[in-house]
Amino acid sequence: MKNTVITKTAALPVLLFLLIACGQNSGKKEASAPDSPVAGEEEHYRPNFHFTPEEKWMNDPNGMFYYNGYYHLFFQHYPDSTVWGPMHWGHAVSTDLLNWKELPIALYPGEEGYIFSGSAVVDHDNTSGLSDGRTPPVVAMYTIHDPKKRDNDQIDVETQGIAYSTDEGMTWTKYANNPVIENPGIRDFRDPKVVRDTLRNQWVMVLAAQDRAKFYRSDNLKDWEFLSDFGTDTGAHGGVWECPDFFPMTVEETGETKWVLIQSLNPGGPNGGSATQYFVGDFDGTTFTPDPGFEAELNKRKAFWIDYGRDNYAGVTWSGVPDSNGRKLFIGWMSNWEYAQQVPTTTWRSAMTLPRELQLIKSGTTYQLSSRPIRELKDFRTKAIKKQDIALDSPFVYHTEDGPVLNNTEIALNLKGIGKSTCTFRLYNAKGDTLSFGLNNAKREFFINRAKAGQTDFSEKFAGKTAVAPRFSTSDALDIHIVLDKTSIEIFYDNGTVVMTEIFFPEAPFETLSLTTDTSGVTAKAIAIHELKFN
Ligand code: FRU
Repeated sequence: MKNTVITKTAALPVLLFLLIACGQNSGKKEASAPDSPVAGEEEHYRPNFHFTPEEKWMNDPNGMFYYNGYYHLFFQHYPDSTVWGPMHWGHAVSTDLLNWKELPIALYPGEEGYIFSGSAVVDHDNTSGLSDGRTPPVVAMYTIHDPKKRDNDQIDVETQGIAYSTDEGMTWTKYANNPVIENPGIRDFRDPKVVRDTLRNQWVMVLAAQDRAKFYRSDNLKDWEFLSDFGTDTGAHGGVWECPDFFPMTVEETGETKWVLIQSLNPGGPNGGSATQYFVGDFDGTTFTPDPGFEAELNKRKAFWIDYGRDNYAGVTWSGVPDSNGRKLFIGWMSNWEYAQQVPTTTWRSAMTLPRELQLIKSGTTYQLSSRPIRELKDFRTKAIKKQDIALDSPFVYHTEDGPVLNNTEIALNLKGIGKSTCTFRLYNAKGDTLSFGLNNAKREFFINRAKAGQTDFSEKFAGKTAVAPRFSTSDALDIHIVLDKTSIEIFYDNGTVVMTEIFFPEAPFETLSLTTDTSGVTAKAIAIHELKFN
């Protein structure tokens, strides 16, 4: 998705034109010129349609907002190396969430410290007073991480600052009176996420502080008042809490509104390393309280995970997506702190997940999130094969010949009559790389194994053991939606209530997909394999 020209120009500020033009002429392109010796290697593992930085290191998505036809994505970025270092905010924009254009860096570290993760909102009513009188200011709030204090073993390493833009997010000014929140004596104190609480006409901010989420309020995005703490005695605590998100959602079936708290942590994920959990409850303007039905289920599950795969971290949602659009859009960093800095790419590191639409659903007495690939993906479907009512007593095998490829692909299917079967999918190539995944319904467990899916020797932690996820549904039928890129798979099971996202590094693209079962009587009611085509 590199160097895509944004076609929607009607609402484009002149400045965006200039910045895009400047980005396209940057020296960056030289590194990937087709005849460059590095090119093949650096593009070998680069995804076809997941966002990656043109060059160097990337981690968390930051400051995502939608305004005037553009989705903005900022990201933790170190432009001088392919490993983590002094953090900047990289910047990219898109009109469709799939074709991204990387723009010049938005925020640079300074004397005060590195620019860690945070969020951004469009301040339509100019509550901050930071407008230039022409456009609403966009206000970003982020953590200032002072490496000098860190190296001196001081506690007050992290404070919160704001920056603002009066040209729709293209250029940014750090606020002169930073920090806007001082450190209260907590070493890990970061990743502010701001949301508009329309019911109480206030800005609410949640940040992560070691083993809890802290809530604050403000009228003007500059003066913040502490409200409450949440989480020390609930949910997963295998590591430090980071990168929260907090927002109201309406349950479609019942029309009620609940608040969702998303909370990443590292380590402590269900399959090792970093992962993201969530809570559903009520917010009275001061305190977040889990819903009793949700809490009862949480006591059994120990945690609700937004994704059980090893590669979806620090994910948060876009602010400012019009309500009429009716959706909450989420994106995560598609890696894991256990091995992110060792993955075998040479000139860039890390991709984002596919943007996803979140829905809040009520199941019995509890609530849960369901995730689906963004609907825009459908617009990029080209070649497809579709099969109906396939009895899986003999294996189903699809081999790419003239049909859809398997590295730029969406696959949807429904299985019926699963009983106690284990249904195993295998993706493989002629080089002997195999990725296997599926459902063991006797154990009610989903699994994915990438130990033989290509390069794994760059980190002991990478291949590890098979990653698993519990199956909560007791149904004999299963719906599966898979999004496959060159080096990643995102699997949405049971209406997107269980998700597994994993990356892998095969020597060549996968060419064959097989589906086998170990009992008779399982049927694939409908299988659709769609090739996706981007500009
Ligand atoms: C999460 C995180 C954040 C922090 C950022 C630094 O991956 O550790 O808590 O702000 O990365 O890059």
